[in-house]
Amino acid sequence: MRTTNLISLGLAALALPSQAIDLDINDDASIKSAASTVAYGMMKYYHGNETAQTIGELPWPYYWWHAGAMWGSMMDYWYYTGDTTYNNVTTEAMLFQAGDDDDYMPLNQTKSEGNDDQAFWGMAAMSAAEVNFPNPPAKKPQWLALAQAVFNTQALRWDTKSCGGGLRWQIFTFNNGYNYKNSVSNGGFFNLGARLAKYTGNTTYSDWASKTWDWMEESGLMTEDYYVYDGSDTTKNCSSVDKIQWTYNAGIFLLGAATMWNITGEQVWEDRTRGLWNATHVFFTDEKIMYEVACEPSGNCNVDQHFFKAYLARWIAASSKVAPFLAPLIKPYLQASALGAASSCSGGTDGVTCGTKWFNNVTATSPVGWDQTYGVGQQLCALEVIQSNLIENVKGPVTNSTGGTSTGDDAAGGSGSSDPNRLSKITAADRAGAVIITLIVLGGWIGGMVWLII
Ligand SMILES: *[C@@H]1O[C@H](CO)[C@@H](O)[C@H](O)[C@H]1NC(C)=O
Ligand SMILES: *[C@@H]1O[C@H](CO)[C@@H](O)[C@H](O)[C@H]1NC(C)=O
Ligand SMILES: *[C@@H]1O[C@H](CO)[C@@H](O)[C@H](O)[C@H]1NC(C)=O
Ligand SMILES: *[C@@H]1O[C@H](CO)[C@@H](O)[C@H](O)[C@H]1NC(C)=O
Ligand SMILES: *[C@@H]1O[C@H](CO)[C@@H](O)[C@H](O)[C@H]1NC(C)=O
Ligand SMILES: *[C@@H]1O[C@H](CO)[C@@H](O)[C@H](O)[C@H]1NC(C)=O
Ligand SMILES: *[C@@H]1O[C@H](CO)[C@@H](O)[C@H](O)[C@H]1NC(C)=O
Ligand SMILES: *[C@@H]1O[C@H](CO)[C@@H](O)[C@H](O)[C@H]1NC(C)=O
Ligand SMILES: *[C@@H]1O[C@H](CO)[C@@H](O)[C@H](O)[C@H]1NC(C)=O
Repeated sequence: MRTTNLISLGLAALALPSQAIDLDINDDASIKSAASTVAYGMMKYYHGNETAQTIGELPWPYYWWHAGAMWGSMMDYWYYTGDTTYNNVTTEAMLFQAGDDDDYMPLNQTKSEGNDDQAFWGMAAMSAAEVNFPNPPAKKPQWLALAQAVFNTQALRWDTKSCGGGLRWQIFTFNNGYNYKNSVSNGGFFNLGARLAKYTGNTTYSDWASKTWDWMEESGLMTEDYYVYDGSDTTKNCSSVDKIQWTYNAGIFLLGAATMWNITGEQVWEDRTRGLWNATHVFFTDEKIMYEVACEPSGNCNVDQHFFKAYLARWIAASSKVAPFLAPLIKPYLQASALGAASSCSGGTDGVTCGTKWFNNVTATSPVGWDQTYGVGQQLCALEVIQSNLIENVKGPVTNSTGGTSTGDDAAGGSGSSDPNRLSKITAADRAGAVIITLIVLGGWIGGMVWLII
């Protein structure tokens, strides 16, 4: 993904009566109504289906991966609420952005696409298969095959030349971040592998998931206590780890591990699942309200980071379905966080715009009120955490043998996407641009070295 360092867009507090979202956490109708209000507020940002816009994309400052996160949440929205309002626009977006090879490497994005970006769209397609989201028309690519394509292209990128294995963050050598092996890229591959294994029963996927887990431990990106760190530098053979912790990294591994437990019933996967859940304590206040510990207290979250809590909320709920022993542990956290989130949705001209912070650090309680920030990320996080409270009412993920209707293709994406043919589709101008940036970075680095030597 790309980071846009946009300081939270401030919006002058309007002297309107604060409406807020009324949420009764014990009343399904109230949860659905709150989810619908927040989803509406989020979809107002989407204009891709209007004349001269690009289907599936969000306007600046949002990148392609943000849209993938949003469409994944709309799969969940239908699953939890049964509201079909956004189904067509979601299907249209998911298919339009699948790219020429139906593997979520559309030409417009490929030159700057990371493995994580591709995985976010692939995981949205996987969710569609698991919740039996209405299938695309027969002549179009199908949800399961799209997820398989993403997985298969990534398996070909497994890289043993440094750090003993793992996926790099970026796909192409000329992109900044190619020299970084990070948890979210490996987590996306792990998460998809576990879920594809469950859906299809094919152990090739779970073998890759196990291998990825082992590499995470060996590389030190996952600690003995199941804390998930951010990433490591391949030019140093991953000898020094960037230890920052993000909510979505914990969540991406939690759902994969819970799914591996569901498939295997093995004690080792139960221990890992429980351990990962335990380790999420760093992301909750004493009042059990979720927050982005690395940037929220200082008010420094960038546009990307405003999306991460949505993924932790989405995946802890999903984990409790495949690993039911988690359900009673997770429930109080989902409830407290949803109440905090709903109380933050009292801003903007509509009176129901959601903010970033879900708790009040002075009184340590909710309601917190609106913190004057807004955006797709804020809406998305609130939506996921609120609708996740309907988890007890829905069926767990289906598989090919338990009612799943999505058609797969083992060979999807098999042509590989970091191969020279794919690269040749990227225009010479695009590559030159990327190379120039790389040279500038490299130039600065060499300059620094020279200075050190002198
Ligand atoms: C685009 O999608 C939204 C749903 O988010 C819908 O309300 C709107 O009518 C659609 N616009 C067009 C031009 O289809
Ligand atoms: C969604 O698309 C289908 C098929 O094109 C159409 O029959 C249906 O009316 C659409 N639903 C909505 C809510 O627009
Ligand atoms: C790629 O970009 C062009 C130009 O903006 C646009 O017309 C086209 O629809 C885009 N395609 C995809 C798949 O986003
Ligand atoms: C790099 O790290 C891997 C995994 O720890 C190790 O097997 C390999 O020998 C290391 N390579 C070098 C050149 O140090
Ligand atoms: C989880 O944490 C609790 C206490 O907070 C501890 O008793 C338990 O052993 C931990 N479990 C795992 C698997 O780490
Ligand atoms: C609460 O405030 C204290 C003191 O300013 C700060 O150290 C802490 O990180 C804050 N906690 C959260 C969860 O923001
Ligand atoms: C595995 O997951 C399914 C949902 O897909 C759930 O119904 C089942 O109970 C889980 N298995 C176990 C042993 O908990
Ligand atoms: C799902 O099961 C059916 C019936 O056994 C089989 O024909 C089909 O190929 C399977 N699909 C996948 C993706 O495994
Ligand atoms: C399992 O998936 C792999 C990778 O896509 C494929 O090569 C293999 O044929 C599949 N095996 C079965 C039994 O379907």
